[in-house]
Amino acid sequence: MKLKIIEILKASGSTVSGEALSQKLGVSRVSVWKHIKKLKESGYDIESGPKGYLIGKGSEDMLFPWEFPGREKTILYHDVADSTMDLARTAARKGCPHFTAVIAGRQEKGRGRLDRSWESSAGGLYFTLVLRPDIEPALSFRVNFAASLTLARILRNGFGINAQVKWPNDILVDEKKLVGMLSEMETRSDMLSFVNIGIGINVNNAPPEIENGAVSIKQITGGSPISRKKVLTLFLNAFEEKLNNWNPDTIISEWKEYTVTINRRVRIKTLHETTQGLAVDVDENGALVLELEDGTCKKIIYGDCFHDIA
Ligand code: BTN
Repeated sequence: MKLKIIEILKASGSTVSGEALSQKLGVSRVSVWKHIKKLKESGYDIESGPKGYLIGKGSEDMLFPWEFPGREKTILYHDVADSTMDLARTAARKGCPHFTAVIAGRQEKGRGRLDRSWESSAGGLYFTLVLRPDIEPALSFRVNFAASLTLARILRNGFGINAQVKWPNDILVDEKKLVGMLSEMETRSDMLSFVNIGIGINVNNAPPEIENGAVSIKQITGGSPISRKKVLTLFLNAFEEKLNNWNPDTIISEWKEYTVTINRRVRIKTLHETTQGLAVDVDENGALVLELEDGTCKKIIYGDCFHDIA
């Protein structure tokens, strides 16, 4: 009902009377009024006057469940959250369905990899997907590679952005960070209970100053606001299809088509050490193969990668 009201108001572009709404929806005017009241309380910009209801521009990019028809039961939206990672973990432990997306308008304690924080001001897209794929825990990392490769494709095909992936799962544009991903998994009796993938996309927010720089979709595409709802819808649809047609054997090779890490001199930081070398490959286990200065190769499973070595 809420979505129908919003659609009618948006399609009209001018004031719609309570009477017209109640006729179109087949409900009483009081019921229309109650729904509008709830929508306004949720944050929709709807003006009520003697002639009816007028929806404003501030309602264009909302991420409430009813904005995603067919996904209402698997979208959990919060205007503000500490971190969607924590909310998603709780939801997953309580048994929420596969492909539940926990979204926040902004985060107050957004988390990045290696204990970093992730600046999450309004205008960005912050969500964690709860996944319950039927795969061995040891192969779950491929789901993360599939997510970053799917998102890079969406950014290229849907927004004309030259998105490239940096090992393990960041998305860069001209070496500047556009997307960060963080994943957590839990197993029970050697079976995967869930893999949660947290994704932060700089969409309309002003991204923070970070090492090597960060950028937003809005900055790349020329300054008009970009619909977070469109980014999320395209990603959820494409990623769901990827998982439904899961072919674990091609993920890493597909990912390599988009990477800027291979053949680069890199610095890899883990919590305890930093290693430098030439990135020569990413193996079937998702490990980065580094050629060190003495000519030997070292495989790195986890770390933060910097492309800043001359
Ligand atoms: C990184 O590049 O360090 C990973 C950043 C991951 C950020 C996302 S935003 C949604 C989800 N919630 C969090 O607290 N972190 C992830």
